[in-house]
Amino acid sequence: MKTIICYLSYSGNTEEVADLLKEELEDSNFDIDMYSIGYGAVPNLFEYDLIFLGTFTWDKGSTPEEMKDFAKEVGDKPKNVYVFGTGDTQFGGDNLFCNAVNKLARFYESNYPGLKIEQSPRGSQEQLVTKWLKGVLEHAEGKNIRT
Ligand SMILES: Cc1cc2nc3c(=O)[nH]c(=O)nc-3n(C[C@H](O)[C@H](O)[C@H](O)COP(=O)(O)O)c2cc1C
Repeated sequence: MKTIICYLSYSGNTEEVADLLKEELEDSNFDIDMYSIGYGAVPNLFEYDLIFLGTFTWDKGSTPEEMKDFAKEVGDKPKNVYVFGTGDTQFGGDNLFCNAVNKLARFYESNYPGLKIEQSPRGSQEQLVTKWLKGVLEHAEGKNIRT
């Protein structure tokens, strides 16, 4: 099962979620590639069975430009994209909290709800990551992706 986690992170919160996902997937014997968006060549996502995409939210619920550029470089929309992200409810309240996760999930026609984490996932929110990942793997299995 070829899996990649691509993430965009300025101050490290989204990267922490990416790292947690990686750790948990590796514990389940998944072989994981990581790509920090903006660092090095964009990978060919079409080689992967399972794709995790992570982003923070910016500027009143916007998707960061680097994430839009990444999507343009990827070109077509790969299947089996699962979206996670971090945000802060102080910016615009619930409506705009992690809004980039909603937008990206819609764009990639991901039919599984995105994971939204407030700032750093360390501590009590770690269980949200674990629970979400479990749901993703069950969902992917249901779609007959090899797990
Ligand atoms: C100028 C600015 C605008 C932001 N706007 C939003 C927003 O509209 N919605 C949201 O959920 N979070 C917003 N945030 C919070 C960040 O998304 C949050 O801190 C996130 O965890 C940063 O991710 P990173 O550490 O991976 O870079 C904003 C942060 C800054 C500095």
